[in-house]
Amino acid sequence: METWPELHKAVREALKSLSPGAGSTMVAADLGCSSGPNTLLVVSEVMNTIGAHVQETADNYRSRAIIEVQFFLNDLPGNDFNLVFRSLDQHQRRLQGLAAVEEKQAAVPCYIAGLPGSMYTRILPCQSVHLFHSSHCLIWRSKIPEDLSNGTHVNADNIYIGKTTPKVVVDLFREQFEKDFELFLSLRHKELVSGGYMVLTFAGRRREEMPMQGGVARVWEVLSQALEYLVPKGLVEKEKLSSFNMPYYAPSLDEVTQLIKQNDLFDIEDIRLFESNWDAYDDSDGDVVLNCSSSAENIAKIIRAGIEPLIMNHFGEDILEELFMVYAAMLAKNLEKGKAMCPVIVVILNKSEL
Ligand SMILES: C[S@@+](CC[C@H](N)C(=O)[O-])C[C@H]1O[C@@H](n2cnc3c(N)ncnc32)[C@H](O)[C@@H]1O
Repeated sequence: METWPELHKAVREALKSLSPGAGSTMVAADLGCSSGPNTLLVVSEVMNTIGAHVQETADNYRSRAIIEVQFFLNDLPGNDFNLVFRSLDQHQRRLQGLAAVEEKQAAVPCYIAGLPGSMYTRILPCQSVHLFHSSHCLIWRSKIPEDLSNGTHVNADNIYIGKTTPKVVVDLFREQFEKDFELFLSLRHKELVSGGYMVLTFAGRRREEMPMQGGVARVWEVLSQALEYLVPKGLVEKEKLSSFNMPYYAPSLDEVTQLIKQNDLFDIEDIRLFESNWDAYDDSDGDVVLNCSSSAENIAKIIRAGIEPLIMNHFGEDILEELFMVYAAMLAKNLEKGKAMCPVIVVILNKSEL
């Protein structure tokens, strides 16, 4: 994974915030862990880094640091935590096996717990966490901006910020992001110990891109078009489309940097933006999509996995198959212009020592 180096660095720094002495417990939490194949990868990466650190202390100081880890996996209450719990046993055995064969790594006990709740609320006790990780979660807003959900303003049949979105609506999306992100920073600041770290990864925009430009707006604009296509077919009501908006905002690198600085709770240890292909299976070079149909199918699956519950709640289950078929066909056409890249922001934040 592209962001593992940042995670390794933050784990090593966060270890320094452990109280010295025997029997230290490091507390880590992954926010928006989901229940897919990647959920426990983060735990493995953190544990491998801690294991290597413990081994290094043993090699260098002839006495091994004694560390235990409490790892919280957080997501919204609707997440399939049971699926995660069922895969834990196998995961623990794999970790122990790895530690046994890997000479450079000590086995460190890790206690994993599910933590249902929104990251836009308090979820852990004051000053109890050494490391927060969150990947592809902070793009989600806590809610649709009120003046959009109550109909004061409308978004001209866009479901996210599109080329025809009025400026006042763009501002509503941005303001909702600002409120959510500031709230998130102040909540995590309370929960982190002094010297604690956060590694946050989320889709965003390049510096020069306006909110209706870039790789995030592009994929949602095509989904708006697919929904619109279903209106004359009688599958989607026009009023339903007008009142549907995504609780989403892709901030620019500058917006994120400015908010963190303004907020003044964290030091930015590192911030950068990289481009990742929306089609995770396409690792070809250059900008040309070699097989637009199969690439579009792959992207449609990712987008569907992310927003199926929202679409179902608003439009009903019956449109799903047709909608995503039309979406994939429209995306395939769109990909003839070039690859759909998603700008991703990764930032390491440190709660400075008092
Ligand atoms: C695209 S998945 C990312 C999964 C995983 N972290 C990864 O990088 O592959 C986004 C996850 O964020 C979760 N999520 C969205 N809003 C959230 C919130 N307010 N609090 C906690 N989790 C949230 C969703 O339920 C979903 O599981």
